[in-house]
Amino acid sequence: MTNEELVKEAYEARKMSYAPYSEFKVGAALLTKNGKVYRGCNVENASYGATNCAERTAFFKAVSEGEREFTAIAIVGQKDDVTPDLEEYAAPCGICRQVMREFCDPKTFRIVLASRPDHIREFTLEELLPLSFGPDNLIKE
Ligand code: THU
Repeated sequence: MTNEELVKEAYEARKMSYAPYSEFKVGAALLTKNGKVYRGCNVENASYGATNCAERTAFFKAVSEGEREFTAIAIVGQKDDVTPDLEEYAAPCGICRQVMREFCDPKTFRIVLASRPDHIREFTLEELLPLSFGPDNLIKE
């Protein structure tokens, strides 16, 4: 699946966003090693801290269905009726980056950001979460 196709999935996921408070609607599309896509959106809450980001929604959906191996995630986020500047990407928050770190190889997992359907940038997880702490740090000899 190309980055452009995965971004399209993320825009579809964004349509389901529940964001009545911030009105900042985020969609994510998580690609498994077997080529399956799990969509996620942000789900806000009147008790703001209970909000779940789009990326974690996608990860928790996938992991709860038995998936453990992932190759990429596409993320799009913006308010409705706003045309973002070309460099205005919705980058994943720190908590979502750490959730990615639990399941993904920092050197190869791709984080695909789009400010518009045809304006896409790709990073590795390591680039967005350097010197990270992960499951391997807890392996006992
Ligand atoms: N949000 C995400 O869904 N993903 C991120 O990585 C950043 C923030 C959501 C949470 C909240 O619903 C809204 O964007 C504004 O913070």
